[in-house]
Amino acid sequence: MKTEEIETPALVVDLDKFELNMKTMSQAARQYGIKLRPHAKAHKSPNIGLAQIAGGAIGICCQKVSEAEIFIDAGIKDVLLTNELVDPRKLDRLAALTRLATITVCVDHASQVRALSKAAVERKTEIGVLVEVDVGQRRCGTRPDASVVELARQIQASPGLQFLGLQAYHGTAQHMRSPDARRATIAEVAAIVRDVKTLLAEQGFQCTVIAGGGTGTFYLESQSTEFTEIQPGSYVFLDADYAKNEPEPAVPTFAQSLHVLTTVISIGAHGNPVLDAGYKALAVDSGLPSIADRKAFIAKMSDEHSVIQDNGTPSLQPGDRVVLTPSHIDPTVNLHDWYVGVRHGRVEVLWPIAARGPGL
Ligand SMILES: Cc1ncc(COP(=O)(O)O)c(C=O)c1O
Repeated sequence: MKTEEIETPALVVDLDKFELNMKTMSQAARQYGIKLRPHAKAHKSPNIGLAQIAGGAIGICCQKVSEAEIFIDAGIKDVLLTNELVDPRKLDRLAALTRLATITVCVDHASQVRALSKAAVERKTEIGVLVEVDVGQRRCGTRPDASVVELARQIQASPGLQFLGLQAYHGTAQHMRSPDARRATIAEVAAIVRDVKTLLAEQGFQCTVIAGGGTGTFYLESQSTEFTEIQPGSYVFLDADYAKNEPEPAVPTFAQSLHVLTTVISIGAHGNPVLDAGYKALAVDSGLPSIADRKAFIAKMSDEHSVIQDNGTPSLQPGDRVVLTPSHIDPTVNLHDWYVGVRHGRVEVLWPIAARGPGL
């Protein structure tokens, strides 16, 4: 099928750019001498997860048990769940996955450790545990002080659990526009990690895993000597928000490889073109999508429509195709069932977005 024949709205992957992004990150991790464990929450596709492993990744990260189940079912053997779990049913499902894969999960509270240990014992298995430290994002994570040592001690004393180290991810740093701001923030993160490791070492706890880093800062965690593995996700596709980050010289960059292909279905009485894709095809938490190939912008959106303010020439007509760049890929991908992979103007692959959904 030719690209012009794709039914819209469709999530379209430029396979040349996607493959280049995959290669760039694998090579960067090798050059920095750091393990790569990409975050699969970005793409939610076992096809892509398996390609990342084939490219040298040590495993993947998931954010939800439902994601881990789908990736492990597809053959992935090592999953870090970068999240906290409290529901005994989810903990039991996680423990069950250890039959098929190496599983590591995060905790930041004593009650999670108790519940996790119970689930591991009931399934007669062992689960690796990272203490998540709040390194400045103000989301999950314990304070970077003696409370980490307390949790490590509790984990080590809990049957079925093994203390492995720390999760130290700073999400907001990923989207800081200036390279200096990103560098300064991750320097603070590395200092926090160093101090916490010292506190742990004083009490006899060694960290074999220190995990963190995303698409915006992976090179900084890699260059610091504190981290053992990085967990970028968005680099496979990028998005309009990431494109606003000023690049750091001599650091690998990534191409926009994912777009939403749309069609003009109307020129309303107002004279502006109306597209067949709205909030149900594009997430807008990081702003409205941008238009990839012409001087025009989305003026407003509703559930199934986007209205273009068209300054472009020639002006658009019903039936014309318009390529949109999502502002934030993770929640955009989650709205779609399939990736349509294209190369040289033709559809080459369809990949199901098998792990999409709210994430139980
Ligand atoms: C815990 C964690 N690690 C890694 C990532 C990957 O970040 P990015 O997709 O910006 O590379 C995310 C994304 O939100 C995350 O929540």
